[in-house]
Amino acid sequence: MFDIPIKKIHDESRQGESFAPFSLDANKYEKKIYIESYGCQMNFADSEVVAAILNKEGFGSTRNVEEADLIFINTCSVREKAEQTVRKRLTEFRKIKNTRPGTLVGVLGCMAERLKSKFLEEEKLVDIVVGPDAYRSLPGLVEEASGGQRSVNVLLSREETYADISPVRLNSNGVGAFVSITRGCNNMCTFCVVPFTRGRERSRDHESITRECTELFENGYREVTLLGQNVDSYYYNPDSNSTDRAVNFAKLLEMVAKISPELRVRFSTSHPKDITDEVLYIMAAYENICKCIHLPVQSGSTRVLQLMNRTYTREWYMNKIDRIREILPDCSITSDIIAGFCSEDENDHQDTLSVMDYSKYDMSYMFIYSVRPGTLAERRYADDVPLEVKKRRLQEIIEKQNVLSLTSYQKDIGKTFKVLIDGDSKRSSEDWVGRNSQNQVVIFPKKNHDVKKGDYVLVKINDCTQATLFGEMVVLQELVKSN
Ligand code: SAH
Ligand code: SF4
Ligand code: F3S
Repeated sequence: MFDIPIKKIHDESRQGESFAPFSLDANKYEKKIYIESYGCQMNFADSEVVAAILNKEGFGSTRNVEEADLIFINTCSVREKAEQTVRKRLTEFRKIKNTRPGTLVGVLGCMAERLKSKFLEEEKLVDIVVGPDAYRSLPGLVEEASGGQRSVNVLLSREETYADISPVRLNSNGVGAFVSITRGCNNMCTFCVVPFTRGRERSRDHESITRECTELFENGYREVTLLGQNVDSYYYNPDSNSTDRAVNFAKLLEMVAKISPELRVRFSTSHPKDITDEVLYIMAAYENICKCIHLPVQSGSTRVLQLMNRTYTREWYMNKIDRIREILPDCSITSDIIAGFCSEDENDHQDTLSVMDYSKYDMSYMFIYSVRPGTLAERRYADDVPLEVKKRRLQEIIEKQNVLSLTSYQKDIGKTFKVLIDGDSKRSSEDWVGRNSQNQVVIFPKKNHDVKKGDYVLVKINDCTQATLFGEMVVLQELVKSN
């Protein structure tokens, strides 16, 4: 029913911002919306909820901002740069509004939540401001705004999980989809704005999660990524009088894995303090739970980790790495790292580089510390590392990661992986691109093999860069012969 663009979505909170235009079958509808999403996977998943809510009200969508009646921008506040990008886009939307006076512009997501009605004062062209927990009120707000009244709803909720809403899959290639399992965050990392923009943590009921994943599988999807700021703290108890039926993250993971061995399960993000051995053993027990853990360290210095309120030490983190390697020897580990947090000195920085060596990350998202208004770090600590020093340290971190990635990928040469085909390679329609369980990108020639997007194939790796594996498909008979 929907024309879904084929587009590989990266975790934008970590990669700098970009947008994902989407397209329902717009021609069927009189009113059209255009939506751009920035930020993390959760924001992209939320845009799919927004599309579903407005689709019920008769809105189709368009990739062409010029023909939209409603322009939405789903925003991120995690770093200053993310907010600057949004402001720039809003200026461009102003031009469109000037040429098409009836067009409404709405700001959704974390920046809407952070700035609230201030947005309407600062950005005169914005008609609607809606925070992440208030999307159900969009139809009413759009109606008000159509009548000329600028409207805001930024109420945060302790319960909202949008559990009953079937998202319209906008950002998907038809093979993989994101499924939110928790919203909000109860941790108070001192650098982070997310607890303020997303509110208290709450877990979505497990039945609606498994139902959504089952439906995805039945519709041909072969990979689900369970999303939360801290998936390991997932906890849903349907019975307030007893904990007998309570579901934690390990149990949820198992429930989703059992839907079908043909459905891959991924998850993000894991907080080092919360990931348990129970989760690691469930991962080991199910082949279809992907062997890849995103375990952001942020810093390798215990002193800095304390200032960040990450609640673990360097040694605790390294012990977690040991446990993962023991229980899941083939697991890839990835990380987020911040350079130049308040008071970070050269020793702290060296500690970060050495924890990277210890953890042998396959990949990391690396950032310069950016002060966020209202956070504990902003109120308590001085942002005292000069920008040039932050930049130099970030550069050293990036160089270290490049070496680690290349070493890790080189080790895969000669190995054979089960790869789920995502679609045509960007480089050439003669090649497929897919990913292995470790979430490494694998490119291989199509040749005349009778396979398609969404199929699992075996690929023997013969070359690599630091971010991509290259190989050849292995036909089963050849595999039997070579063994
Ligand atoms: N819930 C996830 C992270 C969400 S934000 C977790 O706990 O890991 C994604 C990443 O952005 C963080 O891991 C952190 O590395 C980075 N980040 C968050 N706030 C930041 C800030 N103020 N400056 C620079 N990077 C930041
Ligand atoms: Fe932010 Fe920390 Fe929560 Fe992650 S765990 S969203 S970094 S407060
Ligand atoms: Fe950004 Fe909000 Fe996600 S601040 S990283 S979009 S939770």
